[in-house]
Amino acid sequence: MKGSMTWTYVVHLLGLTACALGVPQKQAYRVKETVDPPTGWVQYSPAPADHIIDLRIGLPQDKFELLEQALYEVSDPHHHRYGQHLSKEEVDELVAPHPKSMNAVDEWLASHGIDMNSLSRSSAKDWVMVKVPVNLAEKMLDTTYHVWKHVESGVSLVRTTTYSLPEHVHDHVDLVTPTTYFGPLKGMSTTFHWSDAQPAALSSNAPPIKSASGTAVDASCNSTITISCLQQLYNITGYNSSAINGNKIGITGYLEQYANIQDLQSFYQEQRPDALGSSFNYTSVNGGQNSQNLSEAGAEANLDVQFAFGLTHPTPAYFYSTGGQPPYDPDLKTTTDTNEPYAEWLDYILSHPNPPQTISTSYGDDEQTVPQSYAVRTCAGFAQLGARGVSLLVSSGDGGVGDNDANATTTICKTNDGRNATRFIPTYPATCPYVTSVGGTVSIPEVAVYFSGGGFSNYFPTPLYQLGAVTEYLGHLPLNSYSGLFNRFGRGFPDVSAQGDYFRVWIGGKPAHIGGTSASSPAFAGVVSLLNDARLSKGLPPLGFLNPMLYTKGVKGLTDITEGNNPGCGTEGFNATTGWDPITGLGTPNFGLLKEIVLS
Ligand SMILES: *[C@@H]1O[C@H](CO)[C@@H](O)[C@H](O)[C@H]1NC(C)=O
Ligand SMILES: *[C@@H]1O[C@H](CO)[C@@H](O)[C@H](O)[C@H]1NC(C)=O
Ligand SMILES: *[C@@H]1O[C@H](CO)[C@@H](O)[C@H](O)[C@H]1NC(C)=O
Ligand SMILES: *[C@@H]1O[C@H](CO)[C@@H](O)[C@H](O)[C@H]1NC(C)=O
Ligand SMILES: *[C@@H]1O[C@H](CO)[C@@H](O)[C@H](O)[C@H]1NC(C)=O
Ligand SMILES: *[C@@H]1O[C@H](CO)[C@@H](O)[C@H](O)[C@H]1NC(C)=O
Ligand SMILES: *[C@@H]1O[C@H](CO)[C@@H](O)[C@H](O)[C@H]1NC(C)=O
Ligand SMILES: *[C@@H]1O[C@H](CO)[C@@H](O)[C@H](O)[C@H]1NC(C)=O
Repeated sequence: MKGSMTWTYVVHLLGLTACALGVPQKQAYRVKETVDPPTGWVQYSPAPADHIIDLRIGLPQDKFELLEQALYEVSDPHHHRYGQHLSKEEVDELVAPHPKSMNAVDEWLASHGIDMNSLSRSSAKDWVMVKVPVNLAEKMLDTTYHVWKHVESGVSLVRTTTYSLPEHVHDHVDLVTPTTYFGPLKGMSTTFHWSDAQPAALSSNAPPIKSASGTAVDASCNSTITISCLQQLYNITGYNSSAINGNKIGITGYLEQYANIQDLQSFYQEQRPDALGSSFNYTSVNGGQNSQNLSEAGAEANLDVQFAFGLTHPTPAYFYSTGGQPPYDPDLKTTTDTNEPYAEWLDYILSHPNPPQTISTSYGDDEQTVPQSYAVRTCAGFAQLGARGVSLLVSSGDGGVGDNDANATTTICKTNDGRNATRFIPTYPATCPYVTSVGGTVSIPEVAVYFSGGGFSNYFPTPLYQLGAVTEYLGHLPLNSYSGLFNRFGRGFPDVSAQGDYFRVWIGGKPAHIGGTSASSPAFAGVVSLLNDARLSKGLPPLGFLNPMLYTKGVKGLTDITEGNNPGCGTEGFNATTGWDPITGLGTPNFGLLKEIVLS
């Protein structure tokens, strides 16, 4: 008896010792995620064993339903909690992982000899980050990493198409990155026109044109959009924002897009002389750079800062440059490559006690190239921002109902699930239900611009706030239209729209015309920031997540756009119609009316 008890004890002890010494016990693994290799990428070579991977492990957010409920309540103008945004600590508490999950993950990491002191964690502890060599990551995830090359761009990444987790860890991990998300992100500025002609007339002697909302707009605005055009068109003229009421506006930059200060001054001199000499606060996230070399000025970054900050001056302005862009050169054995900047930017902004109340993002990917696990998780991060009182505006994409990559010849509207089925291609993060996605218009009076991204998500269901609007639109769609090409039960996008072509910007010391929903998002964000300004000056909380307000009392402050369509995938796309439609959303802003609505 005594002997056998001792024997049992020894076995237990050995088990513990083996664990503590970092000898992995035989663990039953089960596949966590498998994707088909995304179109356009080819497997190049096995990843070097000593290549360092910045592993990010997402733990389930234990009370996310409560966070989502709080988000909708504080964003609903008819709810008694409206405007009572959550603090960073309150949000962190609602998305913190269950202690059981933290323990399970820590034990799993320890079983692979990982020192707990080498881990870093997001502010809510829902992400665990650790740098590990490829050969260890392969053991931990029972996978094989390869170097993959993107044929057209030559970009290389270390990725895998499948990975597994030990059975007992499965329920305690949402996702591990970098694994199956290839990207790369693309800036939404595919309709780029340099202005070769002499500087276009920025005002005209011709009689003003009447906009759809009834404002009078300089005739030159029909072919060249300036700050003053947007002020006239969107009924902003005469409103002065404050530099000192606590309001702030932010623009995100990725992909080594640098916002050039000299170009901003040229732009201000031409279009916003009272802003001359002012600039923005630059913040580097995850090693993002800030080259001020004029020949490295980014078209996207310049467009975004010039129009968003040009509309909102003297509101304090922030530009976030997030690093993490390839190229990773497999032949040069670069030591790290991450290309998942949404998560990096979210870590940064969610850890900030006072983020700007209005933020615009002009970047996105075809939804199907973002693994659903990654989209769901980063979308949950955008919900956290909304609950904190941030209005996040996102471009809807530049490919109509089709792909964003206008240059791709092989991937047009084919699913990448191995079936190659024809299907409309929605854009992420525009399809995240917790952001406000912005489509594009053109001309005065405004019509939908043909490239305006719009449609329905294949990942996210129609949220309640737009169910009525979407149902009404689908009810008027000719019977069986595009059957099988889109998900009738998906989140419809965009939510709203704004001008999206012929924006006059300064890039690399020269004026240029540039277009894309890249322009629409910062333009709409500028209007939202002015609304936040009006609210803060009255002692009211900021607007936060906009959609529950926009789809109810906000509708009266938007100008419905009812003409135009967004062709793609060999179809004419969707039509702009009376009411919400998946090309211009609810319409374009009328600042004067919206201000009355949000102050009432
Ligand atoms: C504005 O431009 C559009 C497209 O070029 C044109 O159809 C329209 O007539 C113009 N509007 C005015 C008022 O000139
Ligand atoms: C805005 O500022 C300008 C210039 O200081 C001033 O002329 C104008 O009256 C101000 N408008 C309002 C509505 O306060
Ligand atoms: C820029 O932002 C950082 C971080 O919020 C802050 O410490 C700094 O004072 C700001 N600078 C300016 C000029 O606003
Ligand atoms: C500016 O950038 C260009 C293009 O990248 C480069 O050729 C040039 O050397 C840079 N100039 C300076 C002063 O760094
Ligand atoms: C798309 O094609 C144009 C013209 O061939 C080229 O200038 C541009 O760099 C290409 N864009 C991408 C993202 O490959
Ligand atoms: C889908 O297209 C890819 C690339 O063109 C091709 O290699 C593959 O065989 C196709 N699959 C099917 C099921 O047609
Ligand atoms: C768009 O409008 C045209 C012209 O009215 C109509 O023929 C077509 O069926 C409509 N398409 C959709 C998808 O609603
Ligand atoms: C512009 O906004 C003002 C309120 O600031 C409103 O009285 C006016 O009717 C609006 N103009 C148009 C054309 O909607």
